[in-house]
Amino acid sequence: MIELNDVVKVYPNGTLALDKINIRFNKGSFTVLMGESGAGKTTLLKIIRGDEDPTSGSVVFNGNDIKKWNKVSLRRKIGFAFQDFTLIEDRTVLDNISLPLQFLGVNFHTLHDKTESILQAVKLRDKMYKLVKELSYGERQRVTIARALIYEPEVLLLDEPTGNLDIDTARAVLSFIEMLNERGTTVIMSTHHLIDFGKKPKEMIKIKNGKIVKKEYV
Ligand SMILES: Nc1ncnc2c1ncn2[C@@H]1O[C@H](COP(=O)(O)OP(=O)(O)OP(=O)(O)O)[C@@H](O)[C@H]1O
Ligand SMILES: [Mg+2]
Repeated sequence: MIELNDVVKVYPNGTLALDKINIRFNKGSFTVLMGESGAGKTTLLKIIRGDEDPTSGSVVFNGNDIKKWNKVSLRRKIGFAFQDFTLIEDRTVLDNISLPLQFLGVNFHTLHDKTESILQAVKLRDKMYKLVKELSYGERQRVTIARALIYEPEVLLLDEPTGNLDIDTARAVLSFIEMLNERGTTVIMSTHHLIDFGKKPKEMIKIKNGKIVKKEYV
């Protein structure tokens, strides 16, 4: 469970990105964050994962303030796929997805099989041995999502995961995300596209100028 209490974020240049946000994300819920460009969606996701500190207010994950969480274990429990991909261009798709676990000494065959099944789900199995620099933008986006899934995180943060995908691929990616949610993963996803609502009912939160202006179940 994640709780944001009176979260305010002012960036060092003085921009007020989040203005007293109060939300609770229950375990296993699926929330869609909507809002115009600059509304504060990415900032909110970054704060949930501890990548940005709130200027004031608190974020509580599974009963503890995230300031008290060990960053490494927090990041294993909260997977993310952000807009700025941070993939390693000169490495293969397989490496990009499995490197963190390779460093932990996980057996290569296990990694290979796990990566293969995740890639299958995001329709990229045939790109497993390609270098990231050889991929299209939408393909990179799917690699970023696949990378977020390798740890089987409790919570998955997705920043416009279908923003650059054609409709069929977007649907495939979304139904995969819905399947993960059905298995218990908490999903918090920002989007501009209504297609991202998929088939199942979800919590929708609308943000405008850093404030929550609407909450509804759609
Ligand atoms: N690192 C930063 N330093 C200063 N200001 C920032 C920074 N990152 C974001 N902002 C500002 O904070 C506000 C919220 O930005 P944010 O990236 O959260 O919006 P967003 O809703 O994700 O927009 P988009 O849909 O374009 O991705 C914007 O006014 C933006 O200019
Ligand atoms: Mg954003």
